[in-house]
Amino acid sequence: MHDILNNIRAPYEDALRGFLKGTGEEALQRAYDLGRRAAEDGVGTLDMVKLHEEVLHTILKDSQRSEALADTVRRASQFFAESLSPYEMTHRGFQEALQTLRVRADELADMNRMLEDEISERTEVERALRESENRFRTLVETARDVIFTLSLHGRITSMNPAFEDLVGAQRTEWIDRSCVTLLHTDDTPRAIRVFQQVLRGEIPATFEARIRTNRGTYLVGEFIMAPQYQDGKIVGALGIARDITERKRASEDLRTLAQRVVVAQEEERKRISRELHDDICQRLSATKLHLEALQDKVRDKRSPLARGLVDVRRSIGATIKEVRSISANLRPATLDDLGLPTALRLLCREFSKMHDITVRVEADPLPMHTLPAQTETAVYRVTQEALSNVAKHSRAREVYVQLRRTGTSVSLTIRDNGKGFDTTKAFVRSDGTGLGLFSMRERAQLASATFDLTSVRNKGTTLKLDIPTTGP
Ligand SMILES: Nc1ncnc2c1ncn2[C@@H]1O[C@H](COP(=O)(O)OP(=O)(O)O)[C@@H](O)[C@H]1O
Ligand SMILES: [Mg+2]
Repeated sequence: MHDILNNIRAPYEDALRGFLKGTGEEALQRAYDLGRRAAEDGVGTLDMVKLHEEVLHTILKDSQRSEALADTVRRASQFFAESLSPYEMTHRGFQEALQTLRVRADELADMNRMLEDEISERTEVERALRESENRFRTLVETARDVIFTLSLHGRITSMNPAFEDLVGAQRTEWIDRSCVTLLHTDDTPRAIRVFQQVLRGEIPATFEARIRTNRGTYLVGEFIMAPQYQDGKIVGALGIARDITERKRASEDLRTLAQRVVVAQEEERKRISRELHDDICQRLSATKLHLEALQDKVRDKRSPLARGLVDVRRSIGATIKEVRSISANLRPATLDDLGLPTALRLLCREFSKMHDITVRVEADPLPMHTLPAQTETAVYRVTQEALSNVAKHSRAREVYVQLRRTGTSVSLTIRDNGKGFDTTKAFVRSDGTGLGLFSMRERAQLASATFDLTSVRNKGTTLKLDIPTTGP
């Protein structure tokens, strides 16, 4: 019995495959013939059902396309029905077999629907993913910053079109090349350090490095780097580079301008001081002498005229003093004549007298030419402005001024015990006032000095300049 089934199996499969491929009538004829042979040899309908299912299973296993599954099953049923038609007359089990077959076909169709649902769900997820990927791709493709990825060895693995505009080279030329070769050699050690930090899983602070372009020029790039992960492991680095050349240039221009203003201001002060001292003071002195001569000529020293002359002469004397003091402030002659330490001491003494604030001064002697004349002026001016701020704003009762000389630098410290202030908000207010701190800082910068301002509310303010000196 099994032998017979096995004999039919191969031709049955062959015929069914043919039918499914569309050989039509001829295949159906073969189905009928095979059915008749089986019926004659005594193969039962249930055995036929089993045979059909096995064959169909084999065929479906090979077929990939699920959407055609329902159709295949439907057509296979037609073929099968044809193969069973010889039984119609002889076997009562025919109807029953057909029924089983229908149930099986329904089950298969259900399975197929589930499969289709799953497929459409997956397609939806894939579509959403593709859409989001597209969005990011567009962002990267159109960004004006260079966005790149690096391998664990620092080789460029990808970058966006912005690179071509910036560097003037094709991206393909640079893929798989070491990224540090794009940088100025002085900047590579730092870039490598940052890259190593990234490989340790850190996100380092932004850093600047010069980028060499194909035009032979350098751009200043601001870099942000972060580790790139895959399955929880670091596989390289992600980076963004922004061209900040223009921004740098603008801020440098601004700095140069500010420094020029400081220099021009100093020149102008010198000029006005000279004018006041050499011209106005001389004239006033001459007028005073003239008045004295007139006084001598007045006989009655008690006459209103004589008393008037005395008053005028006194007033002129006071004016001369005032003008001298203004002139001295504008152009501290003491600085040239007596040197910085003494000039500072005198300045502090004057200040203390005028404002009733105790000033303690400690000033190391400075041999000639320890500091360039311009730097000495800067230190003097900073002290002047700092003291004026103490008087104007601090409500301090004591100030400490120290000029210290070490082997490699000269430092100036001015500390008050006043009310303190928020140093982050004090530099240049929007109404343009408050240029004092700003110009102090500019002067310090001009003298290559570090400028350090700290202030604590209700404790006081400390300002420190540190000026490097070349010699001991
Ligand atoms: N020693 C100080 N103590 C308290 N506040 C200060 C001191 N120095 C500066 N300030 C604050 O900082 C501000 C800015 O100072 P500055 O730039 O010199 O401008 P200005 O003296 O013209 O106001 C001051 O208005 C004041 O509020
Ligand atoms: Mg001020």
